Amino acid sequence: MVTPGYLDQPPAHGAATAGVDVSEAEEFLCLLHHEHPGLGAVHRRLEAVRREIAESGTYVHTATELAFGARVAWRNASRCIGRLYWHSLLVRDLRQVHTPAGIFAELVRHLEISVGDCAEPGLEPGMRRIRPVISVFAPTPPGSRPPARLWNEQLIRYAGYRHHDGTVTGDPRYERFTEAVSGLGWRGKGDRFDVLPLVVELDDGRAHLFDLPEHAVVEVPIVHPEYPWFAELGLRWHAVPAISNMRLTVGGVDYPLAPFNGWYMGTEIGARNLADSDRYNQLPAVAARLGLNMAHENTLWRDRALVELNRAVLWSFERLGLRITDHHTESRRFLEHVAREERAGRPTPADWTWIVPPMSGAATPVFHRTYHEADLRPAFYLDRDARELSTRGNTGCPVPRQRTG
Ligand code: ARG
Repeated sequence: MVTPGYLDQPPAHGAATAGVDVSEAEEFLCLLHHEHPGLGAVHRRLEAVRREIAESGTYVHTATELAFGARVAWRNASRCIGRLYWHSLLVRDLRQVHTPAGIFAELVRHLEISVGDCAEPGLEPGMRRIRPVISVFAPTPPGSRPPARLWNEQLIRYAGYRHHDGTVTGDPRYERFTEAVSGLGWRGKGDRFDVLPLVVELDDGRAHLFDLPEHAVVEVPIVHPEYPWFAELGLRWHAVPAISNMRLTVGGVDYPLAPFNGWYMGTEIGARNLADSDRYNQLPAVAARLGLNMAHENTLWRDRALVELNRAVLWSFERLGLRITDHHTESRRFLEHVAREERAGRPTPADWTWIVPPMSGAATPVFHRTYHEADLRPAFYLDRDARELSTRGNTGCPVPRQRTG
């Protein structure tokens, strides 16, 4: 697949920048005041911001600007199918939290808030709402390194341990990350769903490791509505997907540490994390238990196993009252979002290759059309070094060679 050009937008982490781009700041403030006319005329704020940038190289967002910026960054995320709820994002302003222990405490709090107990209108009775939350920490000062960032790709992920025979216990995606944190003294249990520690790196380059407390990691054992044997596969997944290595950029200001979460669409777990052959690779195990003929591809054993695995994921979350959505419902909601945005006079940038679900693509309405492609700001970007850190960590040493046997 072609890597979209917007993945590596300057300025990346650590890049020296002269100062905030005044025209990007102006464009952002005009957008905010245009969409919220109640805030009054924009020219006074523009003047103040221009002056602040001239004096200090940057400017400080008001709480209103920060919240609007984070929400619009989600609205502009062209790979996300779940944007109908963009305006409901809870924005936590943590720009004053600087110490590793303080940052870690707020990340734990983030997870607690994301799985609250409060009922929400429109939710099935007894469902725990998983609510979209973003925690925004200090921005990168012009010409400096990020004051703090996280190595982890998500707040909750599972370790991967490679054995001498080449097999991996756990999530093979995090094999090198697991090696890196082990090199820093972390010891995991060594099982299949071992939650990785969070690694907070400060601008002095030092890494601080923290283990998440159990209560902050809500997990779901995967069972099937009809097949009791499914539980014996011993599968589970975490309830909250919280991306923690993307840079939020708002009006020219970069926030390198701004983890955000939504709730899962079942296929992310059932058709990717547990199914991909380079992840948990569970299709052969499910097909074998279903008694399918795996000698020939044309029996479609993979597809049949995929359907049952995905039914199991949805059912397992729902039975615990944890919010999850299926790809048919979410596809319809996305098109509703596109139509709503159109009525508001806005285009919805979208990347077809990410919007179409990883199973039954053409059975969902999002398949049968094209989308407007654009790189709009505010935005979330995945910088090259952040992506590297989240897969292999930063040991300060040459990358360890992969053991082969
Ligand atoms: N696909 C990623 C995962 O399986 C999560 C990406 C964000 N997903 C979401 N529903 N907000 O963990």
